[in-house]
Amino acid sequence: MKLFLLILSYITLSAFVSVSLAEDGADNLGRQNYTLNCQGCHLPDASGSPGLVPKIKDFVGNFLHVEGGREFIVQVPGSANAPINDQELTDVLTGC
Ligand code: HEC
Repeated sequence: MKLFLLILSYITLSAFVSVSLAEDGADNLGRQNYTLNCQGCHLPDASGSPGLVPKIKDFVGNFLHVEGGREFIVQVPGSANAPINDQELTDVLTGC
């Protein structure tokens, strides 16, 4: 019985994970890279934590309108130290 439940859990979880990935868009690399490299601090919805981690959702675009803003957002430690290339970082930041 325990083995049956274990197998059933595995099948259910696998289905859930595949559906989640499909909904996120397995081809949406920007979203995946955000999940892997940024959401631990900036949270899954990029809303941040007031006083600790700035929100980037619906905000990061403002940096593009000020001098030096574009350079700033790719040089903050979270961006600069992420193990992704420039194009992947661009996709992450433009998806926020
Ligand atoms: C270890 C926690 C952590 C991770 C991981 C992290 N960040 Fe951050 N991020 C911060 C903190 C804290 C700040 C505010 C302090 C600062 O500017 O360095 C910040 C600031 C920023 C800012 C500037 C926003 C502002 O309003 O000043 C951007 C843009 C940003 N992060 C993007 C990213 C991206 C993109 C990733 C993933 C590739 C990422 N961060 C990963 C903690 C993190």
